[in-house]
Amino acid sequence: MNLLKLATVSFALLSASEAWSAGVSATVKLVPSEESPIIQKEIYGQFAEHLGTCIYGGIWVGEDSPIPNTNGYRNDVIKAMRELKVPVLRWPGGCFADEYHWRHGIGPRNQRPRMVNNNWGGTVEDNSFGTNEFFNLCELVGAEPYLSGNVGSGTVEELATWVEYITAEDGPMAELRKQNGREKPWHLKYLGVGNESWGCGGNFLPEFYANVYRRYQTYCRDFNGNHLYKVASGASDYDYDWTEKLMKIAGRHMDGISLHYYTVTGWSGSKGSATDFDADSYYWTLGKCLGIEPVIKRHCEIMDKYDPKCHVGLLVDEWGTWWDQEPGSIPGHLYQQNTMRDAMVAALSLNVFHKFTRRVKMANIAQIANVLQSMWLTKGDQMVLTPTYYVFKMYVPHMEATYVPVEVTTGYRHVDGDRMVPDVSATASLKDGVYTISLTNVDLEKEATVEIPVQNIGAKVVVGGDILTCANINDYNDFGQQEKVSLKKFANAKINKGILTVNMPAKSIITIQVK
Ligand code: AHR
Repeated sequence: MNLLKLATVSFALLSASEAWSAGVSATVKLVPSEESPIIQKEIYGQFAEHLGTCIYGGIWVGEDSPIPNTNGYRNDVIKAMRELKVPVLRWPGGCFADEYHWRHGIGPRNQRPRMVNNNWGGTVEDNSFGTNEFFNLCELVGAEPYLSGNVGSGTVEELATWVEYITAEDGPMAELRKQNGREKPWHLKYLGVGNESWGCGGNFLPEFYANVYRRYQTYCRDFNGNHLYKVASGASDYDYDWTEKLMKIAGRHMDGISLHYYTVTGWSGSKGSATDFDADSYYWTLGKCLGIEPVIKRHCEIMDKYDPKCHVGLLVDEWGTWWDQEPGSIPGHLYQQNTMRDAMVAALSLNVFHKFTRRVKMANIAQIANVLQSMWLTKGDQMVLTPTYYVFKMYVPHMEATYVPVEVTTGYRHVDGDRMVPDVSATASLKDGVYTISLTNVDLEKEATVEIPVQNIGAKVVVGGDILTCANINDYNDFGQQEKVSLKKFANAKINKGILTVNMPAKSIITIQVK
């Protein structure tokens, strides 16, 4: 701890791009605790909005497409979703959700009405991907559906009957579903009652929305053994007043409340290029990303006041990087490339979610395909997997493992205001007798030697290791080219005399498994 403090003081005066001349080294101490919670697999959740080519092209191509598909879903997408073991998928928005009328998205596809997607570039939406298509996809890949309901421009009756259409065995909505080819109800757990209700979801004031929320959720029923987990539309970033008022007025009526936090430079003007950035901007980004930790902490403190036993989950149901869209892409479609910098943001954010797993019950990166910090990009029949995809893949062993707290002693760099970025970050978990330790060396220049005492956990052998790194921090994977950033086996870790030593290249993310 002293060393950590010393590091904090010593390096506070370094500018972001200055390297630590002495090289990078770190110690990671695993502190297993009997009371440690399980890391919710839903923290690895995804989000798919009717926005740009996230759904159309990025997931769904239709049965008649020449692109290889199963019932209209891209085969490469099905494979990728299964590889990531996507636990939960949020749909249909985002801002789109509060203008979406579900009855327009059922029945024969060629008879579905069209609409203008007012939030996202004015694109005409043909509603060919609707309720049946979404729930069938979730079943196909084994993901839990997370439905985002329309509060802003919809009615209570509309949301109530949507739940009935999806989950009831009998009655008029069940009949309608059966006419549309689906006999059995689907399973629906997560129901979002509005999205960003302080903004695109209706511009509500918190007190008013809290009461509207109480009303809407009243009529969303549990049919035939289905049990809804009801999520109130929560705050953005630092809006603690929203959480305070929601918890006070409606806390007893919810199972979860959401939080949105984007790693973004600001909401007006340029957000910066996804691929063309300098070292200062890189370190700034990591500082902004880590800024989610005090934000979650503060929202949790407010929730603790009203719900000390953690009945209500905090769901970070939108997070990730937001850059300027790629030059030449369609305005409003939020199509951005994804570099090793984005991978760093993914790893550091997931590490933070692990720490708060007692309260953070879900997180959904924005978004799964072709939008913002996506898992993959598609062009026609081609798909590239992004560096962020590989972080999610590398972290799969943490899903539903027991969280193991860590103490990291490392150098820090001062990036902005009081934001500090550690050279080395770590997270750890335990499942079936195997410890999974994920490490991040963010330094652009220096290798890191990380020492992890493992005697206290009884580990004797390294049983697995993966590494994600790159030649240049702005490397990305592109169509028709060999992957520049991909997961490789990592063998540069050994246990000697009770110490696991990991030699990390600069700008690398490594997962080691020991037992
Ligand atoms: O993810 C893109 C948009 O960001 C979502 O539609 C909205 O909820 C948020 O502002």
